[in-house]
Amino acid sequence: MLRDETKLRAYFADAPDDISLDDVDITRIPSHVSFIMDGNGRWAQARGLDRSRGHVAGVDSLRETVTTSVRLGVDVLSAYAFSTENWKRPQREVNLLMHLFATTLVKELPLFHQENVRLKFLGDLDALPKETRDVFQRGLDETASYDGMTFALAVNYGSRAEIARAARLIAEEVAAGTMRPEDVDVEAVSQRLYTAGLPDPDLLVRTSGELRLSNYLLWQLAYTEMYVTDLYWPDFNRWEYLRAIRAFQGRGRRYGGVVNA
Ligand code: FPP
Repeated sequence: MLRDETKLRAYFADAPDDISLDDVDITRIPSHVSFIMDGNGRWAQARGLDRSRGHVAGVDSLRETVTTSVRLGVDVLSAYAFSTENWKRPQREVNLLMHLFATTLVKELPLFHQENVRLKFLGDLDALPKETRDVFQRGLDETASYDGMTFALAVNYGSRAEIARAARLIAEEVAAGTMRPEDVDVEAVSQRLYTAGLPDPDLLVRTSGELRLSNYLLWQLAYTEMYVTDLYWPDFNRWEYLRAIRAFQGRGRRYGGVVNA
């Protein structure tokens, strides 16, 4: 993706001691970077605040992550905002999150317009409250023609349910006679996932030190490099993003093959 180098340099001025833009090769920025935004609740509790304050603070980190991704020239940014399991949280917290998604999206739409960002959602949106669904649809409609970065937000998303849904769609097509069983291959499944048309993530970043995937993009993460930071999501910033990219660029990706094959 094209990047504005002047804006990029200005954005990463005032570097801390241990990391700067010079530590990454800006010609080898990962195409798709994905985030499991974890630790909002613990960030708030550590400050004696209500968990909801952690989610509100998490919005600021997400905004900075969108901007950092645009400045670096990332093609696709994706983030896990609400899982199919998150409905089990206290009703008050679920309500707050749904409202926060809607109000944040309305507030941030100008940023997407300004930066040519196309919105996409991963997950079953039918189960969301009408307010949230309507705002999401507005975001989709208003950014559909943009060809800059794609920002895919996973809401009411679960990877196993996503794969089961793809299997069901394929079974229906086979039953209808529009698809032959021998045409069911990796590509056919990929095309029926919520991420259809997007490249697989090159880099997955998870905050708050947890070493698990939590039912996130299980199919798509097959060859993705992972970076786990102990920072809670509200503390995640552009510098930690650069550290993640530096770590990514230090890895040798072999996709099951051998080096220099
Ligand atoms: C994980 O922290 C975070 C979430 C479940 C929600 C993600 C929401 C945001 C980052 C806020 C804004 C997002 C949008 C799209 C406007 P946690 O609650 O699991 O934290 P814990 O593990 O410390 O309890």
